[in-house]
Amino acid sequence: MINPEQFRFFSEMVRQTSGISLQKGKEYLLESRLNELARVLGLKDIEELYRKTKFQPTPKLKEQIVEAMTTNETYFFRDQHPFDALKNHVIPELIKVKKDVKRLKFWSAACSTGQEPYSIAMILKEHFQALNNWRVEIIASDISQQAINKGKEGRFTQVEVNRGLPIQLLIKYFKQNGAFWIVDARLKNMIRFKKVNLMGPFIGISSIDVIMCRYVLIYFDQKTKKDILAKLVKALNPGGYLFLGATETPVGLPPNMKRKTFGRATCWQKTG
Ligand SMILES: C[S@@+](CC[C@H](N)C(=O)[O-])C[C@H]1O[C@@H](n2cnc3c(N)ncnc32)[C@H](O)[C@@H]1O
Repeated sequence: MINPEQFRFFSEMVRQTSGISLQKGKEYLLESRLNELARVLGLKDIEELYRKTKFQPTPKLKEQIVEAMTTNETYFFRDQHPFDALKNHVIPELIKVKKDVKRLKFWSAACSTGQEPYSIAMILKEHFQALNNWRVEIIASDISQQAINKGKEGRFTQVEVNRGLPIQLLIKYFKQNGAFWIVDARLKNMIRFKKVNLMGPFIGISSIDVIMCRYVLIYFDQKTKKDILAKLVKALNPGGYLFLGATETPVGLPPNMKRKTFGRATCWQKTG
């Protein structure tokens, strides 16, 4: 059993580094994830991991602990409605507005293993041939280097492609290789994966037209959420859109963000 001091120590470390807030009651989660990490590192138990982290901390070990506490659940075209909104309303509008600069930038902030940015890329390839001579970029970022590496590799299991990916898109954009499905270079080339901690500065990320920051703010406390929302809005172009997870309330969103509803999707547009 994880003891109260170990819980306090690890949860504080995770909160400070990643913003992920582990309240009382989450002891079982911390315990099971850190037991697994201790096993992988060849340590006897959580007590040994605790002592090592407290008295011989290394950046790598801290990173492994934070990674162990992230939840990387994701799937292709998650919730469907935001992607319908992109296809039917948001991208057509942005194409009109940006016809002179011919440049579009998407950001999947907290992209996990890449299903979200690959879903955006498929929408662009399938429905917006008009963008062929535009500069279109999808930035895909996450705090977890492991998740980023997997996204960059673009190698998914049968179970993963069964989640949300229509069969015709699987056949068109993925090649089977043994037990895996490999993403086509046409999609990979549209995406730039990079490690970004939402708690830190967004270096090199600005003038974004669409930000998807979905199912990550739920792990943060109100103050952290508010600070991150302010930074996300700053990174958006005027007229740009922000999508959050369906269950996420945008408490703390700056007043220059106007709520928009497209079909069954809700998003926020930066007004100025
Ligand atoms: C549940 S997944 C959501 C993935 C995707 N956005 C979706 O909706 O399917 C949450 C992701 O947030 C990432 N994450 C957690 N804290 C983060 C932080 N401080 N900065 C960036 N990413 C973070 C996790 O590593 C994880 O991959």
